Amino acid sequence: MAFEQHPVQTFPKPFSSYLMHNLVLHAISFVIGLSLGIFITLQLKSLPIFFQSSFVSTTSPSAPPGTSTTSLPSSAPPSPPSPPPLPSNGTSNYSSVSLEEGHRLSLIHHNMSDEELLRRASSMVPTVQVAMTPKVAFMFLTSGPLPLAPLWEKFFQGNEGFYSIYVHSRPDYNETIPQDSVFYGRRIPSQPVYWGTASMIDAERRLLANALIDDVSNQRFVLLSDSCIPLFNFKKIYDYLINSNLSFLSVFDDPGKPGRGRYNHQMAPMINLTDWRKGSQWFEVHRDIALHIVSDNEYYSIFEKLCRPPCYNDEHYIPTLKVLTKCLGALVTDCSFVA
Ligand SMILES: *[C@@H]1O[C@H](CO)[C@@H](O)[C@H](O)[C@H]1NC(C)=O
Ligand SMILES: *[C@@H]1O[C@H](CO)[C@@H](O)[C@H](O)[C@H]1NC(C)=O
Ligand SMILES: *[C@@H]1O[C@H](CO)[C@@H](O)[C@H](O)[C@H]1NC(C)=O
Ligand SMILES: *[C@@H]1O[C@H](CO)[C@@H](O)[C@H](O)[C@H]1NC(C)=O
Ligand SMILES: *[C@@H]1O[C@H](CO)[C@@H](O)[C@H](O)[C@H]1NC(C)=O
Ligand SMILES: *[C@@H]1O[C@H](CO)[C@@H](O)[C@H](O)[C@H]1NC(C)=O
Repeated sequence: MAFEQHPVQTFPKPFSSYLMHNLVLHAISFVIGLSLGIFITLQLKSLPIFFQSSFVSTTSPSAPPGTSTTSLPSSAPPSPPSPPPLPSNGTSNYSSVSLEEGHRLSLIHHNMSDEELLRRASSMVPTVQVAMTPKVAFMFLTSGPLPLAPLWEKFFQGNEGFYSIYVHSRPDYNETIPQDSVFYGRRIPSQPVYWGTASMIDAERRLLANALIDDVSNQRFVLLSDSCIPLFNFKKIYDYLINSNLSFLSVFDDPGKPGRGRYNHQMAPMINLTDWRKGSQWFEVHRDIALHIVSDNEYYSIFEKLCRPPCYNDEHYIPTLKVLTKCLGALVTDCSFVA
């Protein structure tokens, strides 16, 4: 039902992963992905820290599976991150968005409609400084199970207070999660997702909106699939993301058929061909950019109406939004989106 696969050959998706449901494939690509991923990441230090294991494995299909014994990246147990420097007091409007205390814990188990959810999220005040430990929101967009959950459990262990987890899965997926799991109770109200349609963007915006509302100390937002693996320990990733001025989006102008070829001329003059971009679905953004993505109605409605297969929202919406929005384009954190 969820994540309809689309023929790969016709419309190559160079960056996106194809979600795999097969455990064997997962296991094989995990081993290859892990070893290759560590190698490649060491070569490309400036790239984001998460690799799609399936992406890594497809780049080198000849690598013999199972030859390397899996050792967890930096197998030393992650030491808890040093508390980040507290921002100077008195300059934050943080208190103006604090939520009614009693509702805090149950916020992601709400029954708000998407409209209400997005409206509430986009009305939040963009806070530049937060007088508490900033957290990284890990947002898992899955079809159902999280086969790599044991790895993530290890990753998060001992780092409570520095992260939040949100899971979007098929609404009819009902496997019970053990109470001692970091994923317990972290599922947000979800809707069916069909690959390549606007429902994918809806799911991403739903994750962002829930993470924005649920906890104002969420300052970084990472979108992950069920085949993502962490290549470094928590502290390293946390420090990297929190200390970076940049968000990480994949954006490029592909003149070919799978790029500009998917542009729909009816989108002009709001979206011109020269603004049209492509990129990977997976991203890491700062809070103000997250806020902007959930607040956009203007471009979203154009995409929803005019970007239909073979145009794929998840590869074009956020990259194109980045170009159309000056502030997003700068990818810096100190811009204001209240317009
Ligand atoms: C901020 O906190 C410091 C010490 O914690 C205090 O000395 C200073 O007066 C405070 N400034 C404001 C504007 O509250
Ligand atoms: C806080 O909000 C008030 C009123 O909304 C505004 O005048 C002020 O500039 C804000 N301060 C900061 C630091 O954003
Ligand atoms: C939504 O939840 C509130 C309280 O949590 C409840 O009062 C209300 O009836 C619910 N609405 C729907 C449509 O389920
Ligand atoms: C989970 O879903 C399956 C199939 O839809 C159903 O048979 C089963 O009763 C459900 N289990 C629970 C606990 O709801
Ligand atoms: C991040 O921003 C601060 C303040 O604008 C600047 O001083 C610093 O050099 C920037 N760091 C990087 C890595 O760009
Ligand atoms: C698209 O092009 C038209 C005509 O050149 C121009 O008027 C319009 O402002 C452009 N739109 C954007 C969003 O740049």
